[in-house]
Amino acid sequence: MWAPEAFRDQVVVVTGGGTGLGFAAAQAMGRLGAAVVLASRNAAHLEPAAETLKKEGVRALAVPTDVRRPAELSRLLGATLEAFGRVDVLVNNAAGNFLCPTENLSPGGWKVVIDIALNGVFYATREFGRHFLAHGGGRIVNVVAAYAWTGGPGTAHSAAAKAGVIALTRTLGVEWASRGVRVNAVCPGVFDTPGARERLWPTDAQREALLAEIPLHRFASPEEVADAIVYVAHPKSSYVTGEVLVMDGGMHLGRGLPADRNTPVPPAPNGE
Ligand code: COA
Repeated sequence: MWAPEAFRDQVVVVTGGGTGLGFAAAQAMGRLGAAVVLASRNAAHLEPAAETLKKEGVRALAVPTDVRRPAELSRLLGATLEAFGRVDVLVNNAAGNFLCPTENLSPGGWKVVIDIALNGVFYATREFGRHFLAHGGGRIVNVVAAYAWTGGPGTAHSAAAKAGVIALTRTLGVEWASRGVRVNAVCPGVFDTPGARERLWPTDAQREALLAEIPLHRFASPEEVADAIVYVAHPKSSYVTGEVLVMDGGMHLGRGLPADRNTPVPPAPNGE
């Protein structure tokens, strides 16, 4: 899909870049020639992830970062510039989530998810955005979730955070457009990871119920969603800003009548 060196001379920073979608996006852009900086709170995953990329020949750096602390994002920008001399792309992928009925959600539980998934995105966007505005432009990609607009029963904190991130994406898509900074979001469907299984669909029945809601009837792979991040992060998507690119196997769309989905389509009268 991409020329082999499509990201040559580009520097990409990915929060939550040590695992899952964040790692897949960093790896995809690294394989296309980018230098990549992996930033994450979980230092245990971070160094091995950077080592994996280096073994593939990717220029990679791990910077332990808690996105809830603005000073750490300032340090992340500094470390990136020191290592690679420039920065072109910020992917805001770090998130925090757990399943909890809203009436049982403590103020601390609400706050921790909002701090990571909304405030953290703002802090990183502000830090890198100011740099991009002052140095000829850049691209920001935010990872969101469709329950931002469908509602997310059991994950009110995360749904509210993601709705905020979509509003921020659209706002900055306009506010920074004339100054060379594009801001877009990618909205993946659900990934079948051990962490998600444990926190979000702990039982087989919940897993089956979830799959039944996905028209493609399978979970997303990080690699296929990473391709969408690659697209909006690349200069080729130069006319796309303030947009949310949804890749969720059709999950957020209306289902129609159950019979329309489950009944085999009868042959046409003329036999075609
Ligand atoms: N159910 C209910 N409340 C929970 C909770 C759960 N599963 N997990 C955390 N909380 C609440 C705590 O009770 C606490 O609230 P309180 O102060 O009112 O008691 C608050 O959240 C902070 O908890 P703490 O354990 O100190 O937070 P943390 O910073 O260590 O981690 C998360 C919070 C959300 C990041 C944690 O769930 C986590 O590490 N998740 C794994 C990573 C992840 O979620 N990745 C994204 C997948 S989409």
